[in-house]
Amino acid sequence: MARRCLSIVLAAGEGTRMKSARAKVLHEVAGLAMVRHVVAAAAKAGSDRIAVVSGKDSEAVIAAVRKDRQDAEHFVQEERFGTAHAVLAARAAIEVGTDDILVLFADTPLIRPETLARARASLIAGTDICVIGFRPENPSGYGRLLERDGELLAIREDKDASEAEKAIDFCNAGVMALSGEKALAILDQIGNDNAKGEYYLTDAVEIARREGLKVRAIEAEAFEVAGVNNRAELAAVEATWQSLRRRRAMIEEGVTLIDPASVTFSHDTVLGRDVVIEPNVVFGPGVTVGEGAVIHAFSHIVGAKISPEVSVGPFARLREGTVLEEGSKVGNFCETKNARLGEDAKLNHLSYIGDAEIGARTNVGAGTITCNYDGALKHRTVIGADAFIGSDTALVAPVSVGDGAYVGTGSVITEDVPAGALAIARERQVNKDGRGTAIAERNRAAKAQKAIKA
Ligand code: UD1
Ligand code: CA
Repeated sequence: MARRCLSIVLAAGEGTRMKSARAKVLHEVAGLAMVRHVVAAAAKAGSDRIAVVSGKDSEAVIAAVRKDRQDAEHFVQEERFGTAHAVLAARAAIEVGTDDILVLFADTPLIRPETLARARASLIAGTDICVIGFRPENPSGYGRLLERDGELLAIREDKDASEAEKAIDFCNAGVMALSGEKALAILDQIGNDNAKGEYYLTDAVEIARREGLKVRAIEAEAFEVAGVNNRAELAAVEATWQSLRRRRAMIEEGVTLIDPASVTFSHDTVLGRDVVIEPNVVFGPGVTVGEGAVIHAFSHIVGAKISPEVSVGPFARLREGTVLEEGSKVGNFCETKNARLGEDAKLNHLSYIGDAEIGARTNVGAGTITCNYDGALKHRTVIGADAFIGSDTALVAPVSVGDGAYVGTGSVITEDVPAGALAIARERQVNKDGRGTAIAERNRAAKAQKAIKA
């Protein structure tokens, strides 16, 4: 039977320094709430159960977690008496029994599954508690890891540390793996006789050692255990996430980024091989880019499926529900929403295409607009294959244009156009001989008159 693992995610922070109406752990990194990043890492490290301990904004926090893990267990820590007290808010989850317990902070969103797996591996190898440590640039404020001969003796909180202990640069990241069998007996012995009068989870280390149990620390890189307490730290963590994602795109996925630092990805962006992304492109959630597609500069893309060999932008805005089939093209200053472009269809300049379908190889002329909204309801425009829509056409939905139809420039199309037909819906042109010259002479005379008066 697979080894069981319960992850307890502490999310009861007040987050006062965020100066926000929302719970801190709901603030997003790469478009995903921090607590969801942590839960995803716990899940990838093999947690079959997830327990979330929340405080402020409790319902919103658990609702966010359950978008990914409907089975997440929820505990509320009514009052904050320290990290051990927070873990014990999930006592009922621990009592169910498990092999490994992971304790994680929901405000540390970059923690990697590999690191959590290493902590679990340490338990499997026979330790009873494994603490994840790191070496920060400035250790002040963190619990220090006191080691001897590769064993962890104690964690000393900054406020309780002696000068000698403060000189130690190996610090507690906050993530701890504990033997599921022994955890409760240890946690129940933790008291609050310390500088902050809190129940410190970190005291578990000394208690376990007193009982002759084995305790170790492993080291993680500082970036992955960076915590978020304010918006500046949130931005710093976002920057780290983005730079890791760009590196993955280039090194592992075979994507060309011409100016990597100017490209923003979402937590779920999917990129095919040989995609090229020019500078200043933003990916919101829900975007897939197929092999060999090119995203030109200054494009903003959300909720779009971009097939192989598609060209987007420069200055394109693809919104939710856009599907671009292979070889199609959306050019500059075009906006699409809930719209499908068939294979090799072209939408090259200055258009809005919403709630629409455009068939294969159809060419949509510059400035074409689908008038999809009547002030109350949205309506669909359906254009067949091999059609031609002249520039500056307004398609007043609901309306359809059949396969191979041709729509004259400047038309306002309010009725369906049959396949193969030519539709022209505009005033017929009249030319009046000599009238242009007459108007010009009259205007010049008026201007001269005005100059005399002045
Ligand atoms: C904690 C560790 C410290 C470590 C540091 C890393 C303890 C006692 N100390 O210190 O060794 O170096 O994290 O950042 O564990 N929380 C609750 N309920 C509570 C108290 C805390 O949910 O009653 C949550 C907080 O929201 C936060 C996390 O636990 O996400 C850590 O709590 P915090 O008070 O920030 O601990 P630190 O003093 O930073
Ligand atoms: Ca903290």
